[in-house]
Amino acid sequence: MNFLQKLFHSSKKREPRNLKVDIHSHLLPGIDDGAKTTYESIKMIKAYKNMGYQKLITTPHIMWHRYKNSSEIIMEKLEYLKDALADHEVEIEIEAASEYYLDEHFAKLLAKKEILTFGENYLLFEMSYTRAPKDLREIVFDIEMAGYKPVLAHPERYIFMHDGFDEYEELKELGVYFQLNLNSLAGQYSKNVQKIALELINRRMVDFLGSDVHKLSQTETLKKVLESDTLQDIFKKNRILNNTLL
Ligand SMILES: [Fe+2]
Repeated sequence: MNFLQKLFHSSKKREPRNLKVDIHSHLLPGIDDGAKTTYESIKMIKAYKNMGYQKLITTPHIMWHRYKNSSEIIMEKLEYLKDALADHEVEIEIEAASEYYLDEHFAKLLAKKEILTFGENYLLFEMSYTRAPKDLREIVFDIEMAGYKPVLAHPERYIFMHDGFDEYEELKELGVYFQLNLNSLAGQYSKNVQKIALELINRRMVDFLGSDVHKLSQTETLKKVLESDTLQDIFKKNRILNNTLL
């Protein structure tokens, strides 16, 4: 190995992490199934910081049968957490949006345009893991007509979409962005979810990466995924938009 090769080799090793922005997590304390206390939130956020993240867009659930959150509740909690982070001298950019569950309440919010978005009008949504909403195509259309860009959270987790790739391809054709959960690659959910996640990467269908961290132990899994070669592979094969949000 000559000098230049050595330099290139070592600089490659010191290359900063590719992923600087996270767009999916449950870090606001006590309002969904994520962080339970402020202490836990702060520990989790410190872990992200140590992994090289510069900006976190946290996304509490709005899921009317379980978490009756509103834009106001989320934004108030965000301000509260920002103050707590300042008190603990944790410097990181943090914003909030929501992970909207497709239900009747969401339809009402959409009609009123009472939606928390991130970046340029991206709207993060999820649905039942086992059953497709019967009017999914219409909902996607309504989201787009209202001026939002639909981002499907963890497409790999929807069991009803696992037979073949037609459903995924159709959604992409409708203009839906896909946000993969990094921890799916570590097998956090199931072997099958892991397999579909890899397939989405190989088919170059991934637009955003998310941590979807709910508790501290999941940041450990995330760290392992970020340190794996898979992350580089994702960036090679897909146009990942996270860092455009810095
Ligand atoms: Fe989530």
